Amino acid sequence: MSAILQVKKLEAFYGGTRVLQGIDFEVAEGGITTILGANGAGKTTTLRALSALIKTKGEIWFQGRRIDGLSTEKIAGLGVAHVPDGRGTLVNLTVEENLRVGAYLRRDRAAAEADFERMYSYFPRLRERRQQQAGTLSGGEQQMLAISRALMLKPKLLLLDEPSFGLAPLIIREIFDIMRLINREERVSILLVEQNVARALELADHAWLIETGSTVMSGTSKELRDNEQIRRSYLGF
Ligand SMILES: Nc1ncnc2c1ncn2[C@@H]1O[C@H](COP(=O)(O)OP(=O)(O)OP(=O)(O)O)[C@@H](O)[C@H]1O
Ligand SMILES: [Mg+2]
Repeated sequence: MSAILQVKKLEAFYGGTRVLQGIDFEVAEGGITTILGANGAGKTTTLRALSALIKTKGEIWFQGRRIDGLSTEKIAGLGVAHVPDGRGTLVNLTVEENLRVGAYLRRDRAAAEADFERMYSYFPRLRERRQQQAGTLSGGEQQMLAISRALMLKPKLLLLDEPSFGLAPLIIREIFDIMRLINREERVSILLVEQNVARALELADHAWLIETGSTVMSGTSKELRDNEQIRRSYLGF
């Protein structure tokens, strides 16, 4: 399978401090790839670097085109949607208004209207709460809204930062099942960043491990699940 995203020697900086030390990884077209790592390894920073939210060096290729150096808005417009950690829903807007914001870069307005229905069919709870303020939703509902809002862009690549954070196991299961469905039905490639290593390896087909800003291991999810070091350090058995 060819790569939709290729990252070469990527460095990222907060002020003068280099936090990514030249990482390499790729996301297969149509696949689900996960980046694993402990707290502070640089997972969130990697997604921020892909969306041009921080200063970077190195190369980022999306669909065969070099995108490092482009603006955040331009990258989103090419089809890279980012669900940040902490979800980033607009708390004072309703569910429906949040979805509308997600579609603002699209030119095909009529199709965007139809997509509200598509999102509500994935997440029926959001339909029931379409007029509710986002800030009053439960954590799980906010995560569903954040994902739906990103999908309203009709992205080709979805960047997901710790969608399981703070959620109960049943809700995590529900959201991950829907992510798999969306990946298959809409052919959206997914780059998932997770601390929940067991869940991430269940969903993803390929994984990369980063430690202190460097890629140290990669393989199929099965290979990583069977790896002694991963089991001891990240899966706890
Ligand atoms: N705004 C910032 N300014 C300075 N340093 C930062 C900033 N944000 C993150 N860092 C540092 O960059 C490093 C990587 O942080 P990052 O948030 O990418 O880690 P992470 O892998 O997402 O961790 P977690 O699992 O806790 O979310 C950490 O050492 C962190 O302290
Ligand atoms: Mg993080």
